[in-house]
Amino acid sequence: MLAHTIEEVREKRQEWKGLKIGLVPTMGALHEGHLSLIKKAKEVCDKVVVSVFVNPIQFGPSEDYDKYPRTLDKDYELCTKEGVDLVFAPSPSCMYPEGNGKLSNDTLTYVCPPFFYVNKLCGKTRVGHFDGVCTVVLKLFNIVQPDLGFFGQKDAQQVIIIKKMVRDLNVPVKIVQCPIVREESGLALSSRNKYLSEEGKKEALVLSRILNNIKACYNKGITDVAALKETAYGFLTDKHDMEYLEILDRNTLEEKSKADKDSIVLIACRVEGVRLIDNIYLGEG
Ligand code: PAF
Repeated sequence: MLAHTIEEVREKRQEWKGLKIGLVPTMGALHEGHLSLIKKAKEVCDKVVVSVFVNPIQFGPSEDYDKYPRTLDKDYELCTKEGVDLVFAPSPSCMYPEGNGKLSNDTLTYVCPPFFYVNKLCGKTRVGHFDGVCTVVLKLFNIVQPDLGFFGQKDAQQVIIIKKMVRDLNVPVKIVQCPIVREESGLALSSRNKYLSEEGKKEALVLSRILNNIKACYNKGITDVAALKETAYGFLTDKHDMEYLEILDRNTLEEKSKADKDSIVLIACRVEGVRLIDNIYLGEG
């Protein structure tokens, strides 16, 4: 079933009282990465809801909100094939009736995650991004009232921040993190890969190569974070515009001078102007 309004979702939710509900929040343009979240949700829940909403308030003014791929018919077809029970695809005015596209924290109650978690990695350049993410995710949780919410490890900072929000605000939703899905080449799946040319896709392999190489160096016994980060430079050419490469604690995003089994390596790099992110755990997944 496809629902466009909050009332339709609430009605279904009422029907499903007592059942275990899973929510997979997405911005559409579904790929195998999203399908892996849906499959996991199907495994452990009685009913699965997928939301498809390109959330305007998590995009900065110079970001790709307008050109972000919108493929609802195809997304709905994929969800139906996977046995999703409800696809919730609201309009921006359904989610933000007052803002009319001009929302700010002067006009909307925002969820603002703590500075420590947002003042690094993607949050450093995407100012306000995680306020927008947390606000929409909390709204979706309130609308759907799931027992479990499913998110991909590819957006590692996002998952850590959402877990923190849920803890801090006593939101009764368990966050389930699912592993990164990659093409055979190693490229992490992302809706933004659609913007890359064939040549760009090859250049984009630099992200996973840098991460795998750091993990290999760590496995050989190198733990000095500065030395591990230094190894990336051998992979970069003028086709790659690296935004960050960090080795942090995988649960708290704290900086470390020595990498250990709880470290995560995170990278953001532009290829053909497309901003791509990826990460890898140095210890067991
Ligand atoms: O990861 C995403 O696709 C989005 O940030 C999310 C969680 C659906 C919120 O809009």
